[in-house]
Amino acid sequence: MSKVTAIVLAAGKGSRMNCDTKKQFMEIKGKPIVWYSLFAFEQSSVDQIILVTGKEDIEFCRKNIVEKYGFKKVTSIVAGGRERYESVYNGIQEVKGDIVLIHDGARPMIDKEIILRCIKGAEKYKACVAGVPAKDTIKITGTDNSIESTPNRNHVWITQTPQAFAYKLIKTAYDNMKKSEMKNITDDAMVVEQFSEQKIYFVEGSYRNIKITTPEDIVIAEALLTDNKS
Ligand code: CTP
Ligand code: MG
Repeated sequence: MSKVTAIVLAAGKGSRMNCDTKKQFMEIKGKPIVWYSLFAFEQSSVDQIILVTGKEDIEFCRKNIVEKYGFKKVTSIVAGGRERYESVYNGIQEVKGDIVLIHDGARPMIDKEIILRCIKGAEKYKACVAGVPAKDTIKITGTDNSIESTPNRNHVWITQTPQAFAYKLIKTAYDNMKKSEMKNITDDAMVVEQFSEQKIYFVEGSYRNIKITTPEDIVIAEALLTDNKS
């Protein structure tokens, strides 16, 4: 059996949410948004959870989330960095497992089925990401917003988290990224794409597994979390 670690990211500033409270700590149905991800991993077969948050929020997270709700699998709460990839890098330094799941704490709709598919995918392929086929037609534009091309929708996927990797693969890829000039990194698969030959596969995510980014996402998440399935 592989030892599995989940890194839950909660070190962002939430600038697109335009709210005084950082979005990962805003409450939906009486719980901070990041609580939902921690709860899902706590209930899953992962062995260890690493929570990455702002340096100034570590004590708040320890007292008001981890201790308050009794998340026993959280073994460390570490300070993130200015960019998402810096937060991931810091989280990776604490990993003890063979498989690492990296998850946005701003995706509260994560569930045990998605977690299991990611673990199995990482065991089988070494690298996989949760995702769903795009429902809309996606266009690639130039800087002036004019359309340059239209990828075949059958090959366009919306990429979510968790993104799951063999530990050695993701550690080496991030170590190489750190030494490089790579910019505009928005997910972990990009780092593995850039710094290894490893094929990365999609596993089935869920259309419910949205990332809370802008204010209307709160309304959607409230509706989804109130829905029976949650
Ligand atoms: N994240 C992080 N460290 C950062 C930036 C982001 O841990 N330096 C986390 C966020 O807390 C979130 C996830 O990565 O759970 C996805 O990032 P995003 O949705 O972009 O969140 P923010 O960066 O907080 O939001 P924004 O880009 O609107 O400022
Ligand atoms: Mg961001």
